[in-house]
Amino acid sequence: METTLIILKPDAVQRGLMGKIITRFEDKGLHIVGMKMMQITPELAATHYKDHQGKPFYDGLVRFMTSSPVCVMAVRGVGAIAICRSMMGATFGSKADAGTIRGDFGVSNSFNLIHGSDSPEAAERELGLFFNAGEVLDFDRAITPWVYDMSGGEPE
Ligand code: RTP
Ligand code: MG
Repeated sequence: METTLIILKPDAVQRGLMGKIITRFEDKGLHIVGMKMMQITPELAATHYKDHQGKPFYDGLVRFMTSSPVCVMAVRGVGAIAICRSMMGATFGSKADAGTIRGDFGVSNSFNLIHGSDSPEAAERELGLFFNAGEVLDFDRAITPWVYDMSGGEPE
């Protein structure tokens, strides 16, 4: 099982798209194990996007991410990191395939609705940045034996 950090960015919150996007993850069978709304500080945005420091879009990215509240989620599942990235679609809304979140809900390249961790290392680091101890929950879902084939003992 992997757990990944998803951020519904300020444009998703302001446009009233939280419910539709969260529903996609639930419909897929992914398990939401943490969720809260928050205002990202410039310091947190800088830490989160430290790999992009110095790039031409960096200042605008930090301004955007701190401009209005976001919804952060911890999303769990087998292969959750790659599954969420493919559900999000390509970075730019103008290029993202139809059927993806960015492809279906946006046209902008910088206001692209959603962030998802891109590796296990990034997921662990980013979950630690956005969630305090105890905010990512371990609990069983009643639907799990119908989301996964558990007959071999492991989710398949
Ligand atoms: P994210 O980190 O937000 O999940 O997005 P990503 O992996 O698909 O894209 P990444 O390359 O990590 O870029 C981070 C965010 O910076 C903005 N961006 N703008 N105008 C530009 O050329 C440009 N390039 C990147 C986007 O908001 C992107 O999500
Ligand atoms: Mg990225």
